[in-house]
Formats: sequence, structure tokens, C-alpha cells
Amino acid sequence: MNTMDLPRHIAVIMDGNGRWATKRHLPRFAGHRAGLEAARELATICVKKGIEVLTLFAFSSENWLRPTEEVSFLMDLFLTALEREADKLHQQNIQLRIIGERDRFDVKLQQQIKRVEALTAKNTGLKLNIAVNYGGRWDITEACKKLALEVEKGLLSSQDITPELVNQKMALSDLPPPDLFIRTSGEQRISNFMLWQFAYTELYFSEALWPDFNETELEKALAFFAGRERRFGYTSEQIREKQHA
Ligand code: FPP
Repeated sequence: MNTMDLPRHIAVIMDGNGRWATKRHLPRFAGHRAGLEAARELATICVKKGIEVLTLFAFSSENWLRPTEEVSFLMDLFLTALEREADKLHQQNIQLRIIGERDRFDVKLQQQIKRVEALTAKNTGLKLNIAVNYGGRWDITEACKKLALEVEKGLLSSQDITPELVNQKMALSDLPPPDLFIRTSGEQRISNFMLWQFAYTELYFSEALWPDFNETELEKALAFFAGRERRFGYTSEQIREKQHA
């Protein structure tokens, strides 16, 4: 595949861990563990392919509603993953960032997040973002609060608020927005993921359950992406003219 056809930024909803486990008569926890493996593998494949940004939705603002044991298991899994994976991520020149509301996490988890982000902050390879306790509506609300504060302080007039300015206040505003969104397990929903950033994102839905999402499945998503004509509001003719200019 021509590197021109590769997405710069891929965003993923890793869905289907529970069903993967249930199909194997295993507890749901086993599905999440296998899901972590699949996430790690995908990051390595993205490094190999030269993808610039990978954003993974690991825990939504709504996931607190799950049974307490499952929530605790996931929080423990995030903590041990950060502890165990930090050095490997660093060796791969990966820059790790966590997006989402952190206040609700255990202090230990908050400390680990800070440590790994600081450790990998200057890395120049894949930018790996993990969305934890994240929600698209939360992200937009936070941006509104930041702008409202500037208006309150007299630093900004409400008349000067533009989409570009709102964008500057959103999570990951320093990175290109996702070109390709992938959701596994056959569900066709965005589920309050990056609502603002997905304005022009190509949406791909895979039937694979997340722990089974491997390089072959990624290739299918990339082939889908390469076949899309991205118009960003222009007509097909205009896009062709731009390509030949
Ligand atoms: C969705 O599957 C998955 C989650 C809510 C958790 C995602 C977490 C991981 C993949 C592991 C940690 C990964 C990182 C990168 C830290 P589901 O449980 O909703 O599956 P189901 O719909 O089949 O029940």
C-alpha cells in the first residue's frame, strides 16, 4: 500500500472482550486480558507501519455502570499494564498519553499515569493515546468550560469563539484528527467516543471480536480506508483537480 493511502491517525473502540471470553466459557476478565494483548500487538504493528497516532478507547465515562468487580479488575489491569509496559513502550520510542477525567482514579493509578507520560513525553515515534474515563461529551464540555473561564476573566469575547478556538481546547488538539475509526465486534456505534474529532473520520466496522483483531484484520481496515475518497465538503471533481495541481 502506498504510504499516501495510510491513515495518520487511527482511533479504535476495542469491543467484544466479554463475548470473546463467553464463547470460550471463560470469565469476562479473561477477555479483557486478551484484549490488552491485542492492544499491545496493534501498537507494535502501527510502529512497524509508521502510523503516527493510535488512540484506543479503554474505558468510557459510562463504563463505571458495570459490575463493581469488573470495574476494579479493569482499573487493576490498567495499573499493572502501565507498570509492566512502561519500559517496553519507551524502548519502542512510543509517546504515551492518557485522555479522560483522572480525578476518579485511585491515587496510585494517577501517579503511574503521570510517571509513564513523563517517561515517554519526548519520544518521537508512535503517539499512543489511551482514553480512560473518557467521553466525547465530557471532552466538549471541558472545552466549553475553558472558554467560559476565559470569557469570565475578560480575556476573550464570546463573539470571537470559532470552531478553531473550540478545537484548541479539545483533547489531542495538537495532533491530526483521526482519519480512520475502527470498532470491532460488529457494533455500528460511536458510543460517545471522539464526537468532535470524528467530523471527517472514515468509519470502519469489523466483525472480529477485539482479542481476535490482528494484523490481517487491520489490513482489511486499511484497504477499506485506501479505497475511500475523502472530500472534506468538496466535490469529487474539486478533489481530482487538487490531486493533479
Ligand atoms: C469492550 O468489550 C472492552 C472494554 C470496555 C475494555 C477495554 C479494555 C481492554 C481492551 C484492555 C485494556 C487495554 C488497554 C489499552 C489499557 P466488552 O467488555 O464491552 O465486550 P462485550 O461487548 O462482548 O461484553
